[in-house]
Amino acid sequence: MASTLSPAELNEILHFTVALARKAGALILEGSEAIRASGAMDEKKNSVDLVTEYDVRVEELVKSELSAKYPSFKFIGEESYAAGARTSLTDEPTFCVDPIDGTTNFVHGFPAVCVSIGLISGRRPVLGVLYNPFLDQLYSAVKGGGAYLTQRGLPPARLPLAKPRPLPSLSQALIGIEWGSDRSADMVNHKGESFKRLAGNPAEGVVGGRMAHSLRSLGSAALNFGMVAQGGLDLYWEIGCWPWDICAGSIIAQEAGCLVAGSHNSPLDNDVNQDVLEGRKYIVIRAIGDSETEKGVDAQKRLIKEFYATVDDFEPK
Ligand code: IPD
Repeated sequence: MASTLSPAELNEILHFTVALARKAGALILEGSEAIRASGAMDEKKNSVDLVTEYDVRVEELVKSELSAKYPSFKFIGEESYAAGARTSLTDEPTFCVDPIDGTTNFVHGFPAVCVSIGLISGRRPVLGVLYNPFLDQLYSAVKGGGAYLTQRGLPPARLPLAKPRPLPSLSQALIGIEWGSDRSADMVNHKGESFKRLAGNPAEGVVGGRMAHSLRSLGSAALNFGMVAQGGLDLYWEIGCWPWDICAGSIIAQEAGCLVAGSHNSPLDNDVNQDVLEGRKYIVIRAIGDSETEKGVDAQKRLIKEFYATVDDFEPK
């Protein structure tokens, strides 16, 4: 295949990766029972950064099937990276995979867990598949083809699930946030202060408070992207996760009319380029309907600016 993939090639890869994600999902379900029965897990950088034999087994399954079918494509995976494999991003097609996103949920039996299979081409995500086997929910998208959610035997539903409505301000938003696995004082202080301002009531003493409708943590960056794409969350922000956590989710979100960006100073041009992908700072806002006074795309930019004026910027470890 050429390094620039045609729509027909992307659709063929989508067909294959959807079937592979379902196969990986069956192994995740098998693993969840086994891990909860045995409690067998290891720690990566600390006691909340968990990995199980199933993270490794699912990645081996996905990697071996992808490389057998697409031998010229490169591969970046969470567990391969943890084991020392450092694949630099080039213009060539590169799969970017998190075998189990939501590992903490996986070991606890909290049903927000997915396999995340992204494909990058020209240094930008062009295909994404997320499959949560616990809820039988599959999000998928290819560039230019729209985003879909297929669940529990129902026909695929185009995302967002409902007509995009306006979002006048952050105070009306339901916002996805995560604590992540870095629990240093620096990280928890910045995140804690940011969450406080997002949730807190400025009329009752929270300086800079926006008093958003509420904050939610699904425990899976990929599924947070899916939830913003479907319109269940208005916005999701995280500092500290990795390209494999957000690669598939970002193209699904873009194809659902979301705006995806990187850090505080990143341009709001919805270009998930290498800087954004590798920047470890991510924000995504849902499709917003035009109001009488403002276009939806302008509202997305205004709200991201409002958001970034509210939360701290800090460096991930
Ligand atoms: C983690 C999850 C979590 C996010 C972390 C990620 P993992 O991925 O996506 O929601 O807060 O930053 O590392 O470890 O479960 O694959």
